[in-house]
Amino acid sequence: MFGLGFWRGGVYVVLLACWILSCAQARCGVGFKVLAFDIRRGLWQEGRVLRRPPGDAALVQLRGTTGNISVSPGALRTAHGQPCFSAVLCLFGRVGNLEGKFDEFGSSHEALALAAPTIKMHVLSANPEFSWDVVAHTWDTAFVEDIKQAFHPLEIEADEQPKLDNVYSFAESVRRSAILKSRVEKRGGFVYDLAVLMRYDIFFRRPLRLAHICCPIDRLWTGHWCSVHAEDLSVREVILSHEPDVSDVRQRSGGVLAPSQFAPFGLHDFWFAGTSSIIDRFAQWGDSIDSFRTTRGANALPVHCGHFYTYLHAQTLGVALGYTGVSYLDYTLARYHNCNFSAAEVVMDPDRFCSHWEISIPRQCEEWLPMPAGWSVGFCPLAGRRAILAPGAGNCGRF
Ligand SMILES: *[C@@H]1O[C@H](CO)[C@@H](O)[C@H](O)[C@H]1NC(C)=O
Ligand SMILES: *[C@@H]1O[C@H](CO)[C@@H](O)[C@H](O)[C@H]1NC(C)=O
Repeated sequence: MFGLGFWRGGVYVVLLACWILSCAQARCGVGFKVLAFDIRRGLWQEGRVLRRPPGDAALVQLRGTTGNISVSPGALRTAHGQPCFSAVLCLFGRVGNLEGKFDEFGSSHEALALAAPTIKMHVLSANPEFSWDVVAHTWDTAFVEDIKQAFHPLEIEADEQPKLDNVYSFAESVRRSAILKSRVEKRGGFVYDLAVLMRYDIFFRRPLRLAHICCPIDRLWTGHWCSVHAEDLSVREVILSHEPDVSDVRQRSGGVLAPSQFAPFGLHDFWFAGTSSIIDRFAQWGDSIDSFRTTRGANALPVHCGHFYTYLHAQTLGVALGYTGVSYLDYTLARYHNCNFSAAEVVMDPDRFCSHWEISIPRQCEEWLPMPAGWSVGFCPLAGRRAILAPGAGNCGRF
């Protein structure tokens, strides 16, 4: 008797588990009972999903009414109160280090230990409107266990880094990370609403809020790209320091924020967000590098690096661009984690721009051109404000 009852109980547990899992997979699909926040009445109501296109607002019929409402991520939950909208963080590249470029300094446990908790806090936990999954591609075959412990990815793939130059291998890891995402989607029979490609070694100081970009998501999103120049505009891209080395004109104790001179032609390529389908198409940017190099000519591109190819590829796809979060202020590379500065009062007309691309040691600018009013804010919302290094902060790079 005991045996049979136990056996039956086991079957129910298995059935229950399957039911819960299948709920999670086809989360809030058509026909599901959900809780939706009805803005007109200011309360949560029971309803049923009528339409649920990935990355777009859901159409919900509220119980006891004939009206349908369109709801976005913060306003739709399962009957058990879980978020209905899903997001995936697709990590790519190498884990990074606290010294410098990967090819010189490799990867270190310290970099992951420093960056990963900030990504979890300021990206995953900071966007509770989504249920988050993580997938991870890396060239750091020795860091698989560390990455698993840090992020619990649903899929992880570590490959020996091919003998490619850095830009191609950056693109290749992005492509493979997006493939891991698609694999999870195929297996689960669903498509994520939001997909975020991100490098491992970003140190977030503040939340990267993403609910407002969804839903619909109609752009490829990335960070605002601000630079810090000398306040008198004598030098571009200064290095902030409390004890500037006077023999290096670029080291300054303060500066003024402005759009990077690359912002109108490039993307700040630490992370990218879009619908799953935008990210699938965008993640192929490596395939276009050679054609951009030949058709545009090496001279038409400021530098051979990801910033410009990612931008050109997005243009080719016809995907509009959106910017949110401010690079260097809201987040920076783990190796610059101690470069904590803030944006203070406006000290300069924000709409003066240096379009000078040349990357020289003095980093001067022949001309600071007046731009239409409000132009700079689109690229760097803090343009014109004074940059102040926090007490005790330092070890900055150029911006
Ligand atoms: C609600 O949506 C369904 C499905 O699209 C449609 O058939 C129905 O007419 C809509 N109801 C109202 C009141 O708009
Ligand atoms: C950055 O500096 C500010 C001002 O001193 C301080 O309040 C903040 O906690 C610092 N943030 C980090 C991440 O160190």
